[in-house]
Amino acid sequence: MKVDVILGLQWGDEGKGKIVDVFTPLYDVIARFQGGPNAGHTIEFDGMKFILHTIPSGIFHRDSVNVIGNGVIIDPYILMKEVDELHQARITPEENLLISRRAHLILPTHRVLDAAYESAKGSAKIGSTLKGIGPSYTDKYARCGLRIGNIGESGFQDRYNKLKTIHLSLAKNYSLDISLHKIDGFSFEEYEEKWFEAITRMKDFRLIDSEIFLNRSLDEGKSVLAEGAQGTLLDIDFGSYPFVTSSSTSSGGVCSGLGISPHRIGTIWGVFKAYCTRVGSGPFPTELNDSTGELMRSRGHEYGSTTGRPRRCGWLDLPALNYSILINGIDKLIMMKADVLNPFENIRVCTGYKIGDLVTDNFPFNLSGSNLQPVYQDFKGWNDIPDVQVSFADLPQYFSEYIGFIEKNTGLPVEIISVGPDRTQTLRR
Ligand code: GDP
Ligand code: IMO
Ligand code: MG
Repeated sequence: MKVDVILGLQWGDEGKGKIVDVFTPLYDVIARFQGGPNAGHTIEFDGMKFILHTIPSGIFHRDSVNVIGNGVIIDPYILMKEVDELHQARITPEENLLISRRAHLILPTHRVLDAAYESAKGSAKIGSTLKGIGPSYTDKYARCGLRIGNIGESGFQDRYNKLKTIHLSLAKNYSLDISLHKIDGFSFEEYEEKWFEAITRMKDFRLIDSEIFLNRSLDEGKSVLAEGAQGTLLDIDFGSYPFVTSSSTSSGGVCSGLGISPHRIGTIWGVFKAYCTRVGSGPFPTELNDSTGELMRSRGHEYGSTTGRPRRCGWLDLPALNYSILINGIDKLIMMKADVLNPFENIRVCTGYKIGDLVTDNFPFNLSGSNLQPVYQDFKGWNDIPDVQVSFADLPQYFSEYIGFIEKNTGLPVEIISVGPDRTQTLRR
């Protein structure tokens, strides 16, 4: 058996969580391979809505096994908050959630450092979710991080204290006054206490060597779905650096983030919105700072699932989409939120960029140059799309033309179209 993959092709929030939930009945195991609680994955069914940050989006199907892989970083406090929210809905992740011993911890001081670094950047700030992502991955690569498997070891507290001291002195150098600093509304000491309480609760979960578990599951003929977080344009190597996150969000990250050989990767699904959004700073060539962008935001409820910040909105960007397809080796496409564009009379797609006197459909190294102008093709609006399964041949003509144009210009089939946030509002070819 192989590992199929679901990835975001834009700047995150494409709707990966919904699609993973929809696909879960087809798989035995769902595994997150990178990122941390900067992610916010929304799942809606039976009139309920959940936002997951660390737990894989297969958790609502009791028969599925959900794995937090070695490439993920975990804030135990945020994880336990998520667990408590699931308990309220009578879902008990203790039964079907497995956590890699190799996953790194986000310490309270990683969150402090995230805030210190962002504030020092001033107007050049990345717009981080302030969940401690950059500093935690920095310690991983500096080979001084703490891992889930270290919890309960005799030297754990000592190693924690040493790191904390280093982090606090760094924060002080950045003029951050820890006595005034708040994390999620708590003082540092209050947050640290809650963090240690959550560390104690980790023993309620099965902490495993997930790379062995996943490879053995595949050997036994079980099917595995890898769930991406963030999007390709936020990838540490291929995103709009430095306005990116600190992990490999693209298909290459699946192998290192789960301990899976490239030979074992199966179908790679790419998820994209019928338009584009971005939360946080950084270049966004097709951004609309006008009433059209506002209409997208209000119809699409484009506010961050993790931070509540308004998402920046704009037209679909084909050169960017094709770049993401190339980097990931995408096999099939999934278009999300087509319903959001229903009332638009004119719909635009960016087909290239005018840079100086040249027009190119290549995705350039520097996206932010002031002389970079998107080139658009216009499409007629489609007014309405059915939100129950219909044959693709029966979709409104102008909508079919939009899909056909994307398929022709990406060379890939759009196999699934999402037309609402609920599980059931999903059209399959
Ligand atoms: P993720 O991070 O990729 O999982 O995406 P988010 O959950 O952060 O953001 C996607 C948002 O769009 C959520 O609020 C979803 O409930 C919602 N959503 C997903 N698919 C659709 C869709 O087809 N139509 C509409 N209107 N909303 C959708
Ligand atoms: P999901 O999985 C959208 C953005 C932040 C910021 C940049 C760096 O829900 O798609 P970080 O906290 O990682 O240091 O922030 O990346 N960002 C996301 N944007 N969706 C996400 O995750 C994101 N995770 C991080 O807004 O611009
Ligand atoms: Mg999200």
